[in-house]
Amino acid sequence: MGLLSMREVRLRFGGIVALDNVSLEVDEGRIVGLIGPNGAGKTTAFNVITRLYRPDEGEVEFDGKSLLRTPPYRIVKHGIARTFQNVEVFPTMTVLENVLVGAHASSRFEPEHRVRTRAEETLELVGLRALAERPAVGLPFGTLKRVELARALASQPRLLLLDEPAGGLNHEEVEELGGFIRRLRDELKLTVLLVEHHMSLVMKVSDWVHVLNFGRTIASGTPAEVQRDPTVIEAYLGGEIDAPAA
Ligand SMILES: Nc1ncnc2c1ncn2[C@@H]1O[C@H](COP(=O)(O)OP(=O)(O)O)[C@@H](O)[C@H]1O
Ligand SMILES: [Mg+2]
Repeated sequence: MGLLSMREVRLRFGGIVALDNVSLEVDEGRIVGLIGPNGAGKTTAFNVITRLYRPDEGEVEFDGKSLLRTPPYRIVKHGIARTFQNVEVFPTMTVLENVLVGAHASSRFEPEHRVRTRAEETLELVGLRALAERPAVGLPFGTLKRVELARALASQPRLLLLDEPAGGLNHEEVEELGGFIRRLRDELKLTVLLVEHHMSLVMKVSDWVHVLNFGRTIASGTPAEVQRDPTVIEAYLGGEIDAPAA
């Protein structure tokens, strides 16, 4: 059974069915890509998993337990952390303070100096140690994405939800991000659910890819299977694949 399991989840906003009977399994230790055109329901799925939204129907389980009665602020204690499509950092706080927010989320009975060390080590991991004392406000978008990533990692999650982490990054940074996501899985044993439009990145790093369109699952399979699925090509990929998966 998956570490994360969404079963027959439905969520509508007025006349829009944002998630229409979506079932999605994420096995422990895997990187799962979640792709689809704009408005397909990808971010909504993250918001349902993190309980910002409550589904109208269906079940969401993490490690075999339902999350539906868990308030959003407790999700991180279960071992789920996320980043946001549009970057949500605390602007007036320093880079380190932002990451300390994540570090404190998993710091029960841990002395403050240890929490701080963990936050600093996480900054080191994402290459931001030198900016620790800088206020977040005014930093470039790509740097803020790293701050968010560090904040998520500092909470020591088992499952990391990344919402378009490559958005706004240049080619080299995207390559680096791909290697970084793999390291998180291989070295930190993290499970990753990755929403991304950057197809070469998704197809390269994912073990499994789930495709949504208008709130419905239209395909689910290995990167190779999904890339040659006619429904996926028609709905989404078209000529967008910039590099075939190895
Ligand atoms: N809070 C909300 N209120 C109303 N409609 C929403 C809300 N959140 C998402 N939606 C709608 O749900 C659909 C899916 O959106 P979203 O999950 O953001 O798509 P994606 O992340 O795949 O681009 C869209 O039609 C969007 O407008
Ligand atoms: Mg989105």
